[in-house]
Amino acid sequence: MNEAPRRIAILGADSRIATEAARIWLAKGVHLVVVTGNPVQLRRLTDDLALRAAGLAEVDGVTADLSDLDALPALWEALRERHPDLDAVLIAQGSQPDQARCQQSPDAMLQALRLNALSAMTLLTVIANDFEARQRGVIGVIGSVAGDRGRKHNYVYGAAKGMLALFLQGLRSRLHGSGVRVLTIKPGFVITPMTEGLDRNRWLWTRPERVARGIVRAFARRRDVVYLPWFWRPILGVLQMIPEPLFKRLSP
Ligand SMILES: NC(=O)c1ccc[n+]([C@@H]2O[C@H](COP(=O)([O-])OP(=O)(O)OC[C@H]3O[C@@H](n4cnc5c(N)ncnc54)[C@H](OP(=O)(O)O)[C@@H]3O)[C@@H](O)[C@H]2O)c1
Repeated sequence: MNEAPRRIAILGADSRIATEAARIWLAKGVHLVVVTGNPVQLRRLTDDLALRAAGLAEVDGVTADLSDLDALPALWEALRERHPDLDAVLIAQGSQPDQARCQQSPDAMLQALRLNALSAMTLLTVIANDFEARQRGVIGVIGSVAGDRGRKHNYVYGAAKGMLALFLQGLRSRLHGSGVRVLTIKPGFVITPMTEGLDRNRWLWTRPERVARGIVRAFARRRDVVYLPWFWRPILGVLQMIPEPLFKRLSP
């Protein structure tokens, strides 16, 4: 698709990163449909966004539990019925699971996969077919640098984001030439509620506003995969080259 998106659906929209992206899009006059899991937060978010839009763009809000996989196809259908002109999607939902708990409980591990990978993959399956039939659309999904290499401290979250990255890679290939673009977004460490409690004073940490600016730029520039900020690409390049016998002894 050549022209910029005019109406974007943002799933997991009250994520700090997604909210900042929503604010930038609104300032550009892009209409938004925001989906969150919590009705109180949805109200707060839509009030804030509507105020910022100042009548120049529309903001609609929908509540949905994005880990309820069975309900997701109907959710997309409902969004499309409300807004037949939807031409872009940002999938942002996610959570940092308790790795120690996931190591003890298959249920906790599966719940982490459900929200961080299967939810997006279920949505992508219906959205891709829909956009492909219309021969246009942009699909952006927030993955993570954690998906590029398994680490002992967060390999369940990493496995989910890694699975998602592979799925997106294949989907991008399938949709190549169809008019539909697929964007994989890989942030590094970002200061958001998801990372509260971690030591966030080191230089690698980034504010959500910076990541959001990168997302909006990537939607406009027809990128396939973006690392945000950019320096995570060489960092992951080096990390991926460390041989497994050495990597397993390190504790990065
Ligand atoms: N922060 C980082 O360092 C970092 C790094 C790399 C990638 N990411 C990814 O960036 C994305 C955004 O995260 P963030 O850092 O901005 O964190 P955040 O502010 O904590 O946002 C997470 C979002 O996911 C939503 N969510 C969780 N469970 C849900 C459910 N069942 N149904 C609907 N929504 C649900 C939350 O909504 P509720 O509040 O309604 O539950 C919240 O809006 C995630 O995919 C995350 O994995 C983050």
